[in-house]
Amino acid sequence: MNALIHPTAALNVRDQFPALPADWHYLDAAATAQKPQAVIDAITNGYARDYATVHRGVYRRSSDMTLAFEAARVATARFLGASSADEVVFTRGATEAINLVAYALPKDGRDRVLLSALEHHSNIVPWQLAGYAIDVCPLTQDGQIDLDAAEKLVTERTRMVSFAHVSNVLGSILDARRAADIAHAKGALLLLDGCQAAPRLTVDVSALACDFYAFSGHKLYGPTGIGVLWGRSALLDSMAPWQGGGSMIDRVTFEHTTYAPPPGRFEAGTPHIIGAIGLHAAIDWTLGIGLAAIHAHEGALTRSTREALRQINSVRLFGPDDSAGIVSFTYQGVHPHDVATILDDVGVAIRAGHHCAQPLMEVLGVPATARASFAAHSGADDVEALVEGLGRVKRIFG
Ligand code: ALA
Repeated sequence: MNALIHPTAALNVRDQFPALPADWHYLDAAATAQKPQAVIDAITNGYARDYATVHRGVYRRSSDMTLAFEAARVATARFLGASSADEVVFTRGATEAINLVAYALPKDGRDRVLLSALEHHSNIVPWQLAGYAIDVCPLTQDGQIDLDAAEKLVTERTRMVSFAHVSNVLGSILDARRAADIAHAKGALLLLDGCQAAPRLTVDVSALACDFYAFSGHKLYGPTGIGVLWGRSALLDSMAPWQGGGSMIDRVTFEHTTYAPPPGRFEAGTPHIIGAIGLHAAIDWTLGIGLAAIHAHEGALTRSTREALRQINSVRLFGPDDSAGIVSFTYQGVHPHDVATILDDVGVAIRAGHHCAQPLMEVLGVPATARASFAAHSGADDVEALVEGLGRVKRIFG
């Protein structure tokens, strides 16, 4: 084994992932996580044994399913350190969660949102669609959101500061508490895009002091199509519905409709029942391993990867050395798509492209990067395979 790649304290969970054959190195968890058997079983049982609608049926199966669905909400609230399950809105994913806030947050005369240069498109476009004027917070040299700059950019016209808790490209971890203080000092709110943080860091919304927190189930070892918006009760109460339909109502007449309180107000239609069941299983699985253990494990793999890649002259690394489980790089003279294709030939799956962060690519001065991202099941062998694969890139491209 490459001497620079240190074996890490193994979490020994790889054999719980049936879709991970021994000769395949999955380094694209930041795009979507593979699923442990416990999650697959919960989804299978949800459909094959327990399935019924929720919130509508009077028969036993349906009331049991309703209990299971709402138990998922309680588990999600605990996972986030929320004070009430009523503060948890199930959405299709973080994208929908951010769209919901951008659309439904009442306008109060402040028309600006502060985003950072590393945001994912899903934390840019919803604000544009909702008519906000955007201010952009620059990054530090090593790819952190520059909070000194943020301090100057938040003004009395800023309605929202909306930052990634962990960057999906650079892995940089935001000092969220400081971001909250900066936003609140001027009367603005803080939304955290927690897509990459929820699978890697312990999240406690009261300690973070944010106002909204969004994440997607599928990056947290759960199913696609389910996500979470956590919001402070008073803020959710102040927000009007954004989609109409069943479940979100109190009383409907042709003349006038009144609405259910949150979270139901924001969950029109039959929800993604088994998505919530699968998310609950994913939360339990993740907490069973422990987020501190996952964070330490991925951190060790990240440091090994960066050390090993630093020895390759043609590689340019992005992001900070203490990045959370995500390593972006380019290989001089070779397009990241070619790098990824050659790596695929040797069983290493990475993502290459702009990672839904085109403004960040402009800041980095590249059209795209190659990105390796880790999960609880990753190991030193995955890093070894990546480094060997880059040797093949060198042999092919010279
Ligand atoms: N946001 C996902 C990624 O970074 C899709 O790959």
